[in-house]
Amino acid sequence: MLVLGIESSCDETAVAVVEDGVRVHASVVASQVDSHAAYGGVVPEIASRLHAERLQLVLERALSDSSITLNDIDRIAVSNRPGLVGALLVGVAAAKALAWSTDTPLVGVNHVHAHLAAPFLETSLSIDAHMPAIGLVASGGHTSLYVVRTGWKFERIGGTIDDAVGEAYDKAASVLELGYPGGPVIDKLAQAASADDRNGSPAFPISNLGPSSLDLSFSGLKTAVLYAVKGVPTRDTMTGKPVYERAASDLTMNQVRGICSAFQHAAVEAIERKLIRAYEHITAAGIQPCSLLIGGGVAANSALREAAHRFALKRQIPACIPEFAYCIDNAAMIAAMGYYTDPLDQSAMVELDAHARSHA
Ligand code: KG4
Ligand code: ZN
Repeated sequence: MLVLGIESSCDETAVAVVEDGVRVHASVVASQVDSHAAYGGVVPEIASRLHAERLQLVLERALSDSSITLNDIDRIAVSNRPGLVGALLVGVAAAKALAWSTDTPLVGVNHVHAHLAAPFLETSLSIDAHMPAIGLVASGGHTSLYVVRTGWKFERIGGTIDDAVGEAYDKAASVLELGYPGGPVIDKLAQAASADDRNGSPAFPISNLGPSSLDLSFSGLKTAVLYAVKGVPTRDTMTGKPVYERAASDLTMNQVRGICSAFQHAAVEAIERKLIRAYEHITAAGIQPCSLLIGGGVAANSALREAAHRFALKRQIPACIPEFAYCIDNAAMIAAMGYYTDPLDQSAMVELDAHARSHA
């Protein structure tokens, strides 16, 4: 079965053609990163406009890359939640128009859940043999822990109560004036840090949130980085605005690498601890996880990948992490999840809508 996937939930316009949920015939991603970089984050209005401008070109490219026509497509899958509603609507409207005009079945896909289908792309792994799984989605918009059961049934058991981990990376990079997106550059600098660089940085807080919580918090970490970089602010008596002791430009490269390393350690350690706790929680409930599934942009992170392998090795289960190209937002994962989802009937297809939240 050939599924056409369409993704427009945030700042990537993507279309892919995937066969039977695993074999990628084409995966085209038009990133808007450069258009948002000046603002230090995604601007929803700009994102929607760029999706509308680019979607048709990306679709044509995906079809030509896979040497197929729309008539060969057996199903259309579109991410319709969660995300920026205006951005999602562009993909949803396009998918409905395509499905309607070519008389092709349509499915709406949860973008966050689809991140966990990505580890299986371009593999011959049996999905059923990997369920039930512990699932971790770590991206710029989401940080969630799941129990994933056969048939892609998701139970969210924890996640961030404030910033997503990728968002914390992006904000830390913004404070350090390292550009956007922050994840890749902080990861690179953290890996380059020497022992002296690391010793020169303060340690950052690792969120815990109580002895049995499976939730995470990254806002304290973000503030700790701000204070480490600029000092603890005082208030301007006239304007009430914070006044900092110093600027990011006052730091030496050694200090920047040290802070990146300490930040990465705190962020990944927080996640690793919750993975361990989630495993204990799940096994105590009588469920034996058969694998660890990880997805989302932060799954590209070197330290998180190491932590995932360490975690899985100790429990003798496989850690399934996508190839780099399928960690960040892409439409191949949407097409894959679309393959495993029942298509909508005619009236549900007409009513398919975009939703900001994961569930109503
Ligand atoms: O999955 P994604 O493309 O978009 C969302 O659904 O949010 O993830 C983008 C996020 C950004 O916050 C980016 O900084 C982060 O993934 N990211 C990384 C790395 N590569 C991308 N974070 C940490 N380390 C990386 N190597
Ligand atoms: Zn995503």
